[in-house]
Amino acid sequence: MPNTALITGASAGIGAEFARYHARKGGDLVIVARRQEPLDALKAELEAIHDITVTVIAMDVGTPEQATALYEAVKAKGIEIDVLINNAGFGGHGAFLDRDLAKDQAMIDLNVGALVTLSHHVGQEMKARGKGKMLQVSSTAAFQPGPYQATYFATKAFVSSFSQAIDEEMRPHGVTSTALCPGLVNTEFVAVADLEGTGLAKQKGATPASVAKVGYDAMMRGDLISINEARLNVMMNWIIPLLPRRTVLKTVGGMQTK
Ligand SMILES: NC(=O)c1ccc[n+]([C@@H]2O[C@H](COP(=O)([O-])OP(=O)(O)OC[C@H]3O[C@@H](n4cnc5c(N)ncnc54)[C@H](OP(=O)(O)O)[C@@H]3O)[C@@H](O)[C@H]2O)c1
Repeated sequence: MPNTALITGASAGIGAEFARYHARKGGDLVIVARRQEPLDALKAELEAIHDITVTVIAMDVGTPEQATALYEAVKAKGIEIDVLINNAGFGGHGAFLDRDLAKDQAMIDLNVGALVTLSHHVGQEMKARGKGKMLQVSSTAAFQPGPYQATYFATKAFVSSFSQAIDEEMRPHGVTSTALCPGLVNTEFVAVADLEGTGLAKQKGATPASVAKVGYDAMMRGDLISINEARLNVMMNWIIPLLPRRTVLKTVGGMQTK
């Protein structure tokens, strides 16, 4: 079983649950996010229960440059990464033209730029070793455009597309990339994205632990795409592609409206 997992966005939500699940399997961890305190608490929790080493790196990985700095920090510690979970990401509610452009640019830098950068650095190392697993946290948002969350939906479409393409390229070299596409999950995501009061946020979300398990297991199998609920799988793959595009835009836009 692969030993060391690098997980971005591990201070909360799905990322913290990926860390707990990997630790249960006996793997070491490098956990990354901006907030030091929850990372330290997670390290203490996991090292107390499991015979593993958890390395905390509290830093902002919100740009490609910062993602490179993270990789260099990992290398400086002499750590080899067997599993890369690109999980850090955020959304943002509102009509595109009314939103602060800097926030959307920061979203692209983290959700896309940092993810691509880390995949490149870690992927080269994995390819040279002839093995490695990547999990790219995408979303059901990847399957259609999302009015009133236009940039977020587009970043996740990028992630799913990118993940499948690099999987095809890397697979002959023993490295796989899985895109995890959850529907709504009960984490800090809704508050961070200012989605409270929308139809989307009123839905019954999944628990982060259940989503982390589905994604992690799919990554270990080397699945291309993983959706955490069967009904969402049917909706994304069999219903939405058959609907008129304008209908999809109106329906999704309606769900993002307060
Ligand atoms: N929740 C949902 O409904 C849902 C659905 C589909 C997909 N997703 C995706 O799942 C992933 C995880 O989200 P979540 O639901 O677990 O949200 P969350 O609870 O808000 O967690 C986001 C994590 O990312 C970290 N993060 C944010 N910006 C960062 C930065 N610049 N540098 C380093 N770390 C950063 C946060 O930690 P710090 O604040 O400490 O930095 C936190 O640990 C995201 O990619 C999200 O798009 C979520």
